[in-house]
Amino acid sequence: MIFYFSGTGNSQWAAQTLAQKLKDQAQDIVQLNQIPSLEQEQQVGLVFPIYAWGAPEAMVDFARKLKKTGAFSFGVCTCGADAGLAMKKLSKIFPLASSYSIAMPNNYIIGSEIDDDDTIARKLSSAQAELETIAGEIAQKKCVYRVQEGKHPALKSNAINMGFNKFARTTKPFYALDTCNGCGICEKNCPASAITLENGRPVWKQQCYQCMRCIHDCPQSAIQYGKETAGRKRYHLRDYL
Ligand SMILES: Cc1cc2nc3c(=O)[nH]c(=O)nc-3n(C[C@H](O)[C@H](O)[C@H](O)COP(=O)(O)O)c2cc1C
Ligand code: SF4
Ligand code: SF4
Repeated sequence: MIFYFSGTGNSQWAAQTLAQKLKDQAQDIVQLNQIPSLEQEQQVGLVFPIYAWGAPEAMVDFARKLKKTGAFSFGVCTCGADAGLAMKKLSKIFPLASSYSIAMPNNYIIGSEIDDDDTIARKLSSAQAELETIAGEIAQKKCVYRVQEGKHPALKSNAINMGFNKFARTTKPFYALDTCNGCGICEKNCPASAITLENGRPVWKQQCYQCMRCIHDCPQSAIQYGKETAGRKRYHLRDYL
């Protein structure tokens, strides 16, 4: 079984592509009602995006609840550029025999413009090839650590990641423009259940995962985060596949 968490589809696509190549199944951890037993599994994969050089809280919590298993275990993260020590830190919670990072389009619209079309096409093409290689290595149960850690990984995955989880996950700057038509898609799809519609407009709980799904997937592009996201292009993986 390949368990995944994904905000804007990159990690979902990676998990489903791997599952297809390995004749396995990909399961969204947000849709699970209970922690699965791993007794019957030949292999267990965790696939997720990198948030501030760490694994998302949802994936860390899930990994904590999993029972140790004799199955071959692997982790694959998708990231805009580098993952720091995220995989090594996750492996201390749920031991991973193999760890990989795959560079994919950067969805962090709060921090910068999303990648240009050429960069997105290049990253997706490399990711396809890398997934083929990863699937082959997993099928052979090879132990591999192929993670782009980047510069100063310890600083990024410790102090900066802690700062992100403590301070940067506030939803205060979120708001919807008047173009919001109250369709409810943001409320329905938020993996943190952090959005409710009040008088036909989204209202956010105090904290969320910062997965960026609501901003990118609003059909009206009505959701903004402070001043940073106005005028920035939204990202939809389906437009590039
Ligand atoms: C809150 C947040 C923090 C991020 N931090 C990093 C990072 O530290 N390093 C990196 O290379 N990419 C970072 N990214 C980019 C994502 O990891 C990347 O776009 C990922 O493929 C998104 O996957 P998804 O579509 O499955 O959500 C960040 C994205 C978000 C939303
Ligand atoms: S998805 Fe967009 S248009 Fe629909 S309710 Fe949310 S903010 Fe409004
Ligand atoms: S509020 Fe938006 S960014 Fe935060 S977890 Fe929900 S969908 Fe993701």
